Amino acid sequence: MSFPAIAIDGPAASGKSTVAGRIAARLNYTFINTGAMYRAVAWRLLQTGVDPACVGGVEEALPALSLSFEKKGTVSAVVCEGRVLDEELRAPSVNAVVSMVAAVPAVRAFLVGKQREYNLREPVVMEGRDIGTAVFPDSRFKYFVTASEEVRAARRAAEGVVDSIAERDRQDASRAVSPLAKAPDALLVDTSDMTIDEVVDFIIRDIRSKL
Ligand code: CDP
Ligand code: CDP
Repeated sequence: MSFPAIAIDGPAASGKSTVAGRIAARLNYTFINTGAMYRAVAWRLLQTGVDPACVGGVEEALPALSLSFEKKGTVSAVVCEGRVLDEELRAPSVNAVVSMVAAVPAVRAFLVGKQREYNLREPVVMEGRDIGTAVFPDSRFKYFVTASEEVRAARRAAEGVVDSIAERDRQDASRAVSPLAKAPDALLVDTSDMTIDEVVDFIIRDIRSKL
């Protein structure tokens, strides 16, 4: 038996995590924020003094990196070296290097394996950049959530976070392996003029029509 995998992709600050978390709660599926996994790798590299720009050093550090998950309700949090990570993942130092780390093919292979493994056990709502294109290309539930650059920058600024989202999007869309892209069969949801509830209702309606 295979479980549904709801794929939600899109650029930075488009509202992916917010809507994915709510959709998961409504369907009682597990919400997995894959950006948090890439951020956890970046955070750990910085913590252990590995230069994120050195691909060889990053590859060497991967086997020793202990990453696991802890579920609270319908949300799966990342645990690294026994510590549940949250606020530290959104630090400006992590924002600055995460896209560089995510461009390393070995890092992607390491994390995509864990992401697919999760869906062997249960239905998931998974949010990221390559979920519909690379992690679950056969899913029937693919959504590309976006908003204008101005709206996204305003949303992130309203959170009081220092984050050069345009630069991260540029790096994410131009990397060689699994770049940020809309899968041809994903439904495009432009949320520039939509409330969170409207986006959630729209996607849930589409999922239910296909279940
Ligand atoms: O929340 P925000 O959209 O700002 O970023 P995120 O989802 O936490 O992702 C952080 C970074 O991880 C992205 O800018 C990508 O470089 C990387 N990422 C990725 O490459 N593939 C994914 N499936 C998810 C995130
Ligand atoms: O995960 P991603 O970086 O794509 O975005 P997010 O962290 O879920 O959302 C960024 C901010 O935009 C949050 O503060 C949301 O509450 C807000 N948001 C919004 O104002 N309107 C929406 N339709 C979706 C998100």
